[in-house]
Amino acid sequence: MKRTLGTCYYPEHWPEDIWAKDATRMADLGLTWVRIGEFAWSRLEPAPGDLQFDWLDRAITTLTDAGLKVVLGTPTATPPRWMLTKHPNMLAVDAEGRPRKFGSRRHYCFSHEGYREESFRITRLLAERFGKRVAAWQTDNEYGCHDTTISYSKAAENAFRDWLAQKYQSTDALNRAWGNVFWSMEYTSFDEIDLPNLTVTEPNPAHILDFRRFTSDQVARFNQAQVDAIRAYSDAPISHNYMGRVTEFDHFDVGRQMEIATWDSYPLGFLEDRVGASPEDQRHYARQGDPDFQAFHHDLYRAVGQDGRWWVMEQQPGPVNWAPSNPAPLPGMVRFWTWEAFAHGAECVAYFRWRQAPFAQEQYHAGLLRPDSTEAEGFAEAAKVANEIKDMPHVEQAKAPVALVFDYASQWAWETQPQGTGCDYFQLVFETYKGLRQLGLSVDIIPPDTGNLGGYELILAPGAITLTDPFKSAIRATDAQVILGPRTNAKTAELSIPVPLPPAIDGLDVTISRVETLRPDSPEPFSDGGNYKLWREQIETAADVIEADAKGQPLMVRAHNFSYLAAWPNPVAMQRILTRAAIAAGLDPQDLPKDIRIRDTGQTRFAFNHGPEPIQFDGYNIPAAGVIWHPA
Ligand code: GAL
Repeated sequence: MKRTLGTCYYPEHWPEDIWAKDATRMADLGLTWVRIGEFAWSRLEPAPGDLQFDWLDRAITTLTDAGLKVVLGTPTATPPRWMLTKHPNMLAVDAEGRPRKFGSRRHYCFSHEGYREESFRITRLLAERFGKRVAAWQTDNEYGCHDTTISYSKAAENAFRDWLAQKYQSTDALNRAWGNVFWSMEYTSFDEIDLPNLTVTEPNPAHILDFRRFTSDQVARFNQAQVDAIRAYSDAPISHNYMGRVTEFDHFDVGRQMEIATWDSYPLGFLEDRVGASPEDQRHYARQGDPDFQAFHHDLYRAVGQDGRWWVMEQQPGPVNWAPSNPAPLPGMVRFWTWEAFAHGAECVAYFRWRQAPFAQEQYHAGLLRPDSTEAEGFAEAAKVANEIKDMPHVEQAKAPVALVFDYASQWAWETQPQGTGCDYFQLVFETYKGLRQLGLSVDIIPPDTGNLGGYELILAPGAITLTDPFKSAIRATDAQVILGPRTNAKTAELSIPVPLPPAIDGLDVTISRVETLRPDSPEPFSDGGNYKLWREQIETAADVIEADAKGQPLMVRAHNFSYLAAWPNPVAMQRILTRAAIAAGLDPQDLPKDIRIRDTGQTRFAFNHGPEPIQFDGYNIPAAGVIWHPA
């Protein structure tokens, strides 16, 4: 498949007489795609029912006349001010009970029926008018960004009660499932059940977890309405642009509704804002970004998109404006990030944005053009890639040898019951991913209900708190090395401790007799070197002990192809554990230099230097911010 480039464009921000010139410049740069429309509601419908679609029609004509393909975004992340007048209760409400205000974006509550109908209506109207003229769609913009899926509104409360009634059918069943006899929390009617905020001390964890599941379902329901509206008029593929480390809703659920998953990649913004990197690494990678964070999301969205179809919908092109500090990327990084995405299977990488906006919130956010329309630094790098992809290496994806489970429900469960500061599911999975990548291994991220693990040599499901039946059958059927733990299959679906005690995996003689969490500043040693941190389980076992603590107590055991890891290893211990597992799986783990990462496609090996200095690797001199590729 041909790989392409694109950009995000806001015709409503610029005088109409420059659209044609912009379009020609985009095409001349070698771009294929242009995404438009996703924040334009106040111009598409300045007053209720006053539809002003002609300008968008002309913009689409101008762009397609220049040979570009249009991705049309639905404008529902930015309902205009009149919407609030029309639906005063449409605002999302925070955990303190305060409505979020108009004046930025994403202020709506997913459970508000009136707003969902408005979102369906505008989407249907756009699809009706433009369904045959655009080449792809994007629903809304970054569900969950700015913490915007969880809402404690009256609308959410009503919908949650209905959701619970459907799920449990009777309050007796709900009381039993949640364990409401504890602290006399029993209900006799679904109408008595409030949202789990503003309680005196913590609410019942089962109550919170069901609220998180409900919240995720509301996002999926909201998205499905837009998908239905589009499908009635358009055959073009539909996508949504997810955001890095947003885990408030199940992306696999939403992803199943559409053809393409896309995500918005801001490597330098993320590094300080959400990677969890050490201060030294934040300094070292300040102009390059974390070496694994983007790759993790590339691999995740390859799994979220249908048949592995995914894009980067927004690629950082220069400094952004929203992180604690906002450095410029090292020269070459914009090209580098683009190639990294292609190496992980992206069909398209689109730069955010075409021209830097000199007004409003994102004035210091770079574009491919400066506000005065002169080329910014990223422009030449995009041009370079546009030239390079004419002679593209083979990037069709092959199954990776390693599968790593990522489960949104486990994230909610860990957040609900972390048991200790710093105990975060995403971080555990991400550190495992990092460890695998440091060994030079390519990884497929897989959903928790994967029922066929054929073709994988090494399968890991750290922290997946309630294993699904399909996955349990799949690990029973595989000969691959399987590593579970810590905290894998530790809870029932209602977040209770099951009896017999966890992990209760057939063929693995392990019983978790106690868990403890450690202060973040107090890791403890493995007997063979490295530390464990944060989470530790005491286990009873007759299996072979392959890792122990300083007193000889088991920290990791193995039986046949199953291993159980009873603690959260630091990078040193992680490397030893993963190296041993990779060798047992018949793989060839390497000890890569700190800044190098490898990605294997079906026929090509890419090597990326994330460091600020050139590195000699594998017989190649890889420049700083450089990438090389050769046949695998
Ligand atoms: C994204 C968002 C864009 C823009 C960008 C700035 O999260 O989708 O609209 O705000 O960030 O980096």
